[in-house]
Amino acid sequence: MIESGHVLNVSHLTVDYGNENTPALALRDVSLSVDPGEFVGLVGESGSGKSTLAYAILRLLHGGRVVEGSIEVSGQNVYELDSNHLRKFRWETVSMVFQGAMNSLNPVLTVEQHIFETIRAHDESVTLTALRSRTDELLDMVEIDKRRAQHYPHQLSGGMKQRVVIALAIALNPKLVIMDEPTTALDVVVQRAILDRIGEIQKRQRFAVLFITHDLSLVEQIAQTVSIMYAGKIVETTPVEQLLTGTLHHPYTRGLLNAIPELLEDNVAISSIPGHPPEITRLPSGCAFHPRCLYAKDECRMSPPILKLYAGSWIACERLPELEELYSDQ
Ligand SMILES: Nc1ncnc2c1ncn2[C@@H]1O[C@H](COP(=O)(O)OP(=O)(O)OP(=O)(O)O)[C@@H](O)[C@H]1O
Ligand SMILES: [Mg+2]
Repeated sequence: MIESGHVLNVSHLTVDYGNENTPALALRDVSLSVDPGEFVGLVGESGSGKSTLAYAILRLLHGGRVVEGSIEVSGQNVYELDSNHLRKFRWETVSMVFQGAMNSLNPVLTVEQHIFETIRAHDESVTLTALRSRTDELLDMVEIDKRRAQHYPHQLSGGMKQRVVIALAIALNPKLVIMDEPTTALDVVVQRAILDRIGEIQKRQRFAVLFITHDLSLVEQIAQTVSIMYAGKIVETTPVEQLLTGTLHHPYTRGLLNAIPELLEDNVAISSIPGHPPEITRLPSGCAFHPRCLYAKDECRMSPPILKLYAGSWIACERLPELEELYSDQ
């Protein structure tokens, strides 16, 4: 086993939800790595494969198969773990805040009981005193008043429920926490407060985060690296400072950036990307983004582009060498 140094290393991962006659490739040749303590944002439109990647990492794909590639967490191939190790791996090494998780808290359990159950599932011998003190610590971290420990989910606001879910995800000190749209259902102010809190805890506890969202503006303030996904492929991976200052991005990333008013200079108009993402059973040939791309030409319809390193960013675009010129002509 080669220790890669990354806490997460996804390599050339392809996931198929289809069958022999009709493939439905939700992920295509996805490579992504996360360093210990790093905060990586994974951004893409609905249906781009973000949750599928999260499920694949935890070996929780239902109806989908890994048809190519590998996933290593802390140097261990996730798909080679036996059931004992897999159980420990989930939550102790990697935990997840599932999409919509705040609505799946058990209505008959108090906040405290949720935390106790999570910890006990991995350590049956833990004492009640230890459970209580860990609960206090966790609630403190996510800024929930200790008195809430005795409350049931229906007695909490959406923001509080989401904080409880985050407390559960970090309860066992994992090395990596995957957060799948953890704040989407909340209003902007609560969203921002939770995000800031996640950032603070993450720095203090030194775990890595893979933060999944459709909202690029949400991660640009907190992530160190951002990967942009389109139709099951990562089209760009870029350091966040490059995202905001660099001019050279994949045309899709550029489209996403142009839709964020606060990132635009005064004289630039907000624009959205015309068209819709494709169905995964009917992917366009070549670069899947080509039907929506302002710069597509014949070669883009031929073969899928591969990620190439350009000025600090990995970008998958056949027209990469010409992009700077194309953008400046606009
Ligand atoms: N269990 C499944 N069976 C068949 N197809 C699936 C299944 N789960 C997801 N898909 C398909 O795989 C593609 C990727 O879905 P996924 O849920 O990973 O996207 P997402 O980026 O998380 O979207 P959202 O932002 O809406 O949560 C979609 O086309 C979806 O319809
Ligand atoms: Mg999803």
